[in-house]
Amino acid sequence: MPQNSLQQQLVTYLTDVHSTEQNALSTLRAGADSVDDEELAAAFRQHLAETEEHERLVQGRLDAHGAGPSTLKDVAQKGVAAVTGAIASAAPDTSGKMLIQAYAFEHLEIASYRMLRQVARRAGDQETVQVADRILEQEHAAAQTLSDLLERVADHDLRQMGLAA
Ligand SMILES: [Fe+2]
Repeated sequence: MPQNSLQQQLVTYLTDVHSTEQNALSTLRAGADSVDDEELAAAFRQHLAETEEHERLVQGRLDAHGAGPSTLKDVAQKGVAAVTGAIASAAPDTSGKMLIQAYAFEHLEIASYRMLRQVARRAGDQETVQVADRILEQEHAAAQTLSDLLERVADHDLRQMGLAA
């Protein structure tokens, strides 16, 4: 593949993860505001702060490649996140539903950053490789934090619904 196509492919991957981070910001904000489980809300708030940094780091790499933000796609994803938040906050088992979504989303991010990192390696963009490494470390940690909460939050929602043993 010609080098300029490889660069274009790298920019495509960067644009996609930038959209993903925008979506994550909306989803985490909605989650932090809507869940009634304090530990889960705290996990969302902590990862929200990390996600704000991820968005800046990816934007920095897009800037380095002279590419603008993916405005249209971001707007579309924000809309989806807002609808998701509205549906989740109407349910009595909101915490569990938001946790399932967040857990799935962290793994989507992990897959996305591993692919981005590989494309960056092939394109010889070591700075993007380092950014992906740094972000992946935090995505893995966030995924583990959420994983550790699954059973406890299921019990929490049962108590909220008056179904706890
Ligand atoms: Fe994340």
